[in-house]
Amino acid sequence: MKSLIVYHSETGNTRRVAEYIHEKTDSDIIELNPEKKYSRIGMYTSGIKRALMQQGDEIGISNIDLSNYDIVIIGTPVWGGHPTPVVNAGLGIIKEAKGKKAVAFATYRGSEGETLNILRKRLEDAGMNVLGAYGFSEKETEDSGKIDEMIKEAGL
Ligand SMILES: Cc1cc2nc3c(=O)[nH]c(=O)nc-3n(C[C@H](O)[C@H](O)[C@H](O)COP(=O)(O)O)c2cc1C
Repeated sequence: MKSLIVYHSETGNTRRVAEYIHEKTDSDIIELNPEKKYSRIGMYTSGIKRALMQQGDEIGISNIDLSNYDIVIIGTPVWGGHPTPVVNAGLGIIKEAKGKKAVAFATYRGSEGETLNILRKRLEDAGMNVLGAYGFSEKETEDSGKIDEMIKEAGL
């Protein structure tokens, strides 16, 4: 089964999980980036505000086509208990999603908040079959154990 991993990462934790999944599975990988790079402070001011309002950033691409994939794996950092604006934008441009499988994951410091519920709902609303939604604390992103469990459980 061929997967497409789509993720955003500002400080490397989500990237670590995404790249590990990429190494271990038959997958392609896309890193989403904001067109206007966040400053350290900007993440905590406008970034969180935009995340809470579930807004999307400009990410410089207009189409993520799932035609050639069986599964999409979406990864986001948790910002204010929500997916990041970059991931919101990515979710908005996924094409040929209906009937495809999806897995969501989020990395967080203390708590994932509403992040996984929101991702699950958006993927389901796009007609996808969500196989699972997984949260990884910062510490868990540094150890393959829980990531291996996810790969096995979701059949990636
Ligand atoms: C702007 C901002 C908001 C954050 N909000 C939360 C939060 O609400 N809950 C939490 O547990 N961690 C929060 N964190 C910590 C990140 O979710 C955590 O460090 C995550 O692994 C970062 O992923 P990355 O390294 O891929 O960017 C926040 C970090 C930033 C920069």
